[in-house]
Amino acid sequence: MNLSELKKRRRQLMASMGEGGIAILPAAQEHIRNRDVYHDYRQDSDFLYLTGFEEPESVAVLVPGRPQGEYILFCRERNPEKETWDGLRAGQEGAVERYGADDAFPITDIDDILPGLMENRERVYYTMGRNPAFDKHMMDWLNRVRSSARKGVRAPGEFIDLDHQLHEYRLFKSRSEVSAMRRAAKVSAAAHKRAMAACQPGMNEFEIEAELLYEFRRNGMTTAYPSIVGGGRNGCILHYIDNRDALRDGDLLLIDAGAENQGYASDITRTFPVNGEFSPAQREVYEIVLEAQLAAIEKTLAGNHWDDPHQAALRVLVRGLIDLGLLKGSVQSVLESGEYRRFYMHRTGHWLGMDVHDVGDYKVDEDWRLLEAGMVTTVEPGLYITAADDIPERFHNIGIRIEDDVLVTKEGYDVLSKDAPKDIDTIESLVGSGV
Ligand code: GLY
Ligand code: MN
Ligand code: MN
Repeated sequence: MNLSELKKRRRQLMASMGEGGIAILPAAQEHIRNRDVYHDYRQDSDFLYLTGFEEPESVAVLVPGRPQGEYILFCRERNPEKETWDGLRAGQEGAVERYGADDAFPITDIDDILPGLMENRERVYYTMGRNPAFDKHMMDWLNRVRSSARKGVRAPGEFIDLDHQLHEYRLFKSRSEVSAMRRAAKVSAAAHKRAMAACQPGMNEFEIEAELLYEFRRNGMTTAYPSIVGGGRNGCILHYIDNRDALRDGDLLLIDAGAENQGYASDITRTFPVNGEFSPAQREVYEIVLEAQLAAIEKTLAGNHWDDPHQAALRVLVRGLIDLGLLKGSVQSVLESGEYRRFYMHRTGHWLGMDVHDVGDYKVDEDWRLLEAGMVTTVEPGLYITAADDIPERFHNIGIRIEDDVLVTKEGYDVLSKDAPKDIDTIESLVGSGV
């Protein structure tokens, strides 16, 4: 993200905090995978949103109205030996020159400096409970300020959760955020097309996962979440990520995979027949899910309630389940009884942004909030019919989800992931055509 946008975000937050406030945000912690190997490092999204800084062991502090500078970054010092092993560091000079910090200090000096920054501030904006070790430091620093009371120093008396305000900003995507998300969705759509083209009966799920990864990595992107590549019965397991079964002729393959680009996620699901041809039963169920998805997208409009797309999808799915003979009764009675949950047990969408299940409230007071231009949501209805004695065999193990990323605009909506095919004819002609 460019420096001026990062600065604008900090200014916006500081304006809402007012002069008596101080905001403190730690970077994400590193996590050991095994022995001396670490999990891939991913910066905390709130921290990244305000700083663009991707190094661990950093703390950002915003002190509105501080004459010597309002944005302070604590980070690792340069260290030629460590940098030889683990890569370059920005250091304090880089933090100021390349990341726009007004002031930067070594992270090892934070105990000496941070209590001083808290002195005479009334309110601390900090998200408690995410990082217990850091919570403890916060208490220690606060107690240090309190113990200086005799010198006439006032300690902050109010702690305010930073999440709420910050997450409200994050919910509305700027032009550059939308373009990062559009690019992530484009690459993900290409990955889904590649997976369709590569697919042949007898392959393994992990071979298809490799095709997805190939497309992400050759575009310099990573996965936004672990890819779900589930054939047949596995397509009915919502968070199936083992991806290690053979793909069988006659089964469907459900792929839920999205790339992350510059910290912004995409989240796309497509379902297609392993052998390139839907069976009549698979086709019937697929057409219902697709109709539900299109109905939900049509409701993804500014001024509608957050829940409207879900309700639209639900009605089509329930109608379809009744028509297929899998449920009995009227649409209304099935909606009221909740029996549809056997086949559709999740909601139709979630906010999408820096986090795949992005931040932002879904309700205001007790009511669903209204959709507004600049919000991005997924639209992802599905039907999952696992084998059971009371289900006709032709429907056994049909798991279908169709998921797109939809930007609410002033004029309507914009499907960021539209390059991923979802109509039956295009899918059938693409599957197995070769990469
Ligand atoms: N990929 C996670 C989800 O669809 O919500
Ligand atoms: Mn999703
Ligand atoms: Mn998904």
